[in-house]
Amino acid sequence: MAELSDIGVIGLAVMGENLILNMESKGFRVTAYNRTVDKVDNFINGRAKGKNIAGAHSIEELVGSLKSPRKIMLMVKAGKPVDDFIETLLPHLQEGDIIIDGGNSHFPDTERRVKYVESKGLRYIGTGVSGGEEGALLGPSIMPGGSKSAWPEVKPIFQGIAAKVADGSPCCDWVGDGGAGHFVKMVHNGIEYGDMQLICEVYQIMKDVLGMSADEMHEVFKEWNEGELDSYLIEITRDILAHKEKESLPLIKS
Ligand code: 2AM
Repeated sequence: MAELSDIGVIGLAVMGENLILNMESKGFRVTAYNRTVDKVDNFINGRAKGKNIAGAHSIEELVGSLKSPRKIMLMVKAGKPVDDFIETLLPHLQEGDIIIDGGNSHFPDTERRVKYVESKGLRYIGTGVSGGEEGALLGPSIMPGGSKSAWPEVKPIFQGIAAKVADGSPCCDWVGDGGAGHFVKMVHNGIEYGDMQLICEVYQIMKDVLGMSADEMHEVFKEWNEGELDSYLIEITRDILAHKEKESLPLIKS
């Protein structure tokens, strides 16, 4: 019999694929499945080649390949696809198995799904995953919430693949019950977009009021990134302001 996997992931778009590769690189065996099954073979024969990753061509094959309690993570489009996959999975799962939604679901949907899946004797986690494609591959921030008893089951995988701060602690911990994981992700996005708006307004003032060049703005953002404003968004703004196109013209007009 083939070796059983630690976790199954449904959804082979870039976030799903990168999370699988991240999990595998941290020593976990993963089974990959996708609605359009061709993508399973493309992944297994491409980016996953030679790695400890299995491909499943049906839900039965996916479920049969997992250690108990089974952990199945959905990385599919938010909305109906998540509900459809829950319905598809339920008849194949057993009491205590865990369905995880790592997509960008609206938190009231997660709240509803936790109650529904728990009413069937299973467990449900809705988790924010932040960091984009690169984060998914190399270390995202992960915000899980839902059925609390499921946390110890997924903790080694999630904290294993998460980004780490300077002291080594993982950017991942249990955030609460119900839809708390996706709620925290929403607040996180609200803060991030507020920060982006602020950076845009600063840029406009520098450009239109102060008449600064892209290079001059770059110098200011560089200085800011060395002090208490040190952050990812200030860092990438600093870099994009210094980026030159053909003929050494700055990409960002000033
Ligand atoms: P696909 O490759 O079969 O389109 C991101 O789009 C991910 O969500 C992909 O894995 C995609 O599967 C999946 N997805 C999008 N809409 C879906 C749906 N209605 N049902 C199932 N999976 C879906």
